[in-house]
Amino acid sequence: VHKVIFDTDPGVDDAMALYFALAHPEIEVIGITTTFGNVTVQQATANGLYLSRICGREIPVAGGGAVPLMKAPGTPPGFIHGDDGLGNLPSRVAVQGQAESQSAAEFIVAMARAYPGEISLVAVGPFVNLGLALKLEPELPKLIKQVIMMAGTVIEPGNVSPVAEANVWNDPHAADLVFTAGWNLVMVGLDVTHRVVMPATYFTQLAEHHQHHLAMDTLNHAAQFYCDFYLRERPDLGHACFGHDILTFVYLVAPQLFQTQDGRVRVQLEGLGNGQTMMDRHGGLQYAQAGWEKHRPQTTVCMKVDAEQCLSLIKQ
Ligand code: BDR
Ligand code: CA
Repeated sequence: VHKVIFDTDPGVDDAMALYFALAHPEIEVIGITTTFGNVTVQQATANGLYLSRICGREIPVAGGGAVPLMKAPGTPPGFIHGDDGLGNLPSRVAVQGQAESQSAAEFIVAMARAYPGEISLVAVGPFVNLGLALKLEPELPKLIKQVIMMAGTVIEPGNVSPVAEANVWNDPHAADLVFTAGWNLVMVGLDVTHRVVMPATYFTQLAEHHQHHLAMDTLNHAAQFYCDFYLRERPDLGHACFGHDILTFVYLVAPQLFQTQDGRVRVQLEGLGNGQTMMDRHGGLQYAQAGWEKHRPQTTVCMKVDAEQCLSLIKQ
């Protein structure tokens, strides 16, 4: 069983990922840490509590970074995930419980120390909490089993600019810290998430299958809103959405569905290309440019995915 801390900005596809993880027998989510991104961090924390409580799970939720490490803060784009991050739910039931008194970074460090070498950090929002945790505990990469991040892109065009993916673009400095920290790091980016298209009908069927359990109805509502956005943005997909965040958990339990390549990854920190993930695809050439020294840590980058197998695993 994989012990996981889920670092997230829920967010519709974040919610899909969380429910996939909670339903999977080989995944134990020991904590949810939240960040700004798709919504404010306050909303992300409220959503983490809400999503876990309405499916009957008392998982600790620790609130994290409200703003990027260095970049000026922006405003969450309500038209993609809704102003509330869950497709503008018409109402919410009251749920018990509150966020931990520890910050997300403190929670990550405390858990890593309590379970050295056992924790997989699955990070699917901007990476401010990982950046802060690395500053708190520079030895963190040795304590964490692996980091699987929904981040970046190598060949596929970006989704906030021609070259940048949203989670990296939202906090490029934090992302670059994560890429250079030297842990066992897997990047699940647009090169694979744009291959896995989930039809809106899938979520309707899921809600029906679970006889309209509140959690599945909530997910279905959020998913329909998300698919509406994609229908405007990418009519070629039909009424459907990309799986993005859910693929991190698919990688966790079924890495054999992905083709990967190892190489040093860095982030462009300024200018028109800011937030771009640049990968040394030669995997260890000696470049003259500072920042690309041979000894620098490598990232395992997902380049291709068996989309059909992925979808059937998600539907199980
Ligand atoms: C990523 O950005 C967010 O909008 C999604 O939740 C996902 O984590 C995709 O670029
Ligand atoms: Ca996300």
